[in-house]
Amino acid sequence: MDIQEEILKLKEKKDAIILAHYYQRPEIQEIADAIGDSYYLSKLAKDCPNKVIVFCGVRFMAESAKILSPEKTIILPVQEAGCPMADIVERQQIINLKKEHPNAAVVCYINSTAQVKAESDVTVTSSNAFKIIKNLEQEEIIFLPDQNLGSYIAEQIPEKRFILWKGFCITHKRIQKSNIIFIKKKKPRAKVLVHPECEKDVRNFADFIGSTKEMIDYATSSKEKDFIIVTEQGILHALQKKNPDKNFYIPDSTMICTNMKKIRLEDVYKGLFNMNSIIEVEEKIRQKAFQSLINMHRYAK
Ligand code: 13P
Ligand code: SF4
Repeated sequence: MDIQEEILKLKEKKDAIILAHYYQRPEIQEIADAIGDSYYLSKLAKDCPNKVIVFCGVRFMAESAKILSPEKTIILPVQEAGCPMADIVERQQIINLKKEHPNAAVVCYINSTAQVKAESDVTVTSSNAFKIIKNLEQEEIIFLPDQNLGSYIAEQIPEKRFILWKGFCITHKRIQKSNIIFIKKKKPRAKVLVHPECEKDVRNFADFIGSTKEMIDYATSSKEKDFIIVTEQGILHALQKKNPDKNFYIPDSTMICTNMKKIRLEDVYKGLFNMNSIIEVEEKIRQKAFQSLINMHRYAK
């Protein structure tokens, strides 16, 4: 029996579901029960009936699943699969910021630790940040950790004052305006789809800005044939599969998140077989972080 079949058998036996992010390796996306952006995966983790979730993504995603569904066993097949942006801000720094801005709402990007979520009023992802922040009653918004997503949302809500953390994604920061100019010269008619974690001078070239899932939906429903995709390369697998007759171009071959690529089929198999590599969150922190995440699910509806 090959490893894919072994995994499927184990999955049935353990009542497990495999969730994968669009940046995962193609073979991981192929064995997943569902693939999605961070909001969709968080919704599935909250609502799925399974006892076990194998989260093929990075730590903050698996941690969010545990915060929302403490009764489920959450396996992150490689414990070292982290997100450097999520670790860029610490709990005490938020506490200090809250003292300086006592009337501000604290909004954290889902790419953050459980401790940071525990200090935040609401969590957001790139697919719901605008809607949630626009509707908050507070005029002042502390947004962290991603400065790029924060400034993108701030541009659209000029009536609010934003205090932005200086966090960033190392993968999306790699892409430069010059890369886009270069590929645009080669493919002048291609639509440019950009993830909001990119810098403003890259976002300025976008025909569409959105989460990974929103980029896929945009390309899939578009009548156009050619697209320049400005995010991590793993997304090409789903794009190509859903749109075999369309062309997708990545402006720079270094758009790879090494953390997202850490999980291999062997790790999924071992995690399920041994029921190890499990994610735990301290209960006191979890309860506070739950509030912030559940607020996202309420306000995003
Ligand atoms: P999405 O919510 O768009 O999938 O983004 C997650 C992420 O980590 C992007 O770098
Ligand atoms: Fe984190 Fe960037 Fe990787 Fe997304 S692409 S998981 S933000 S390091």
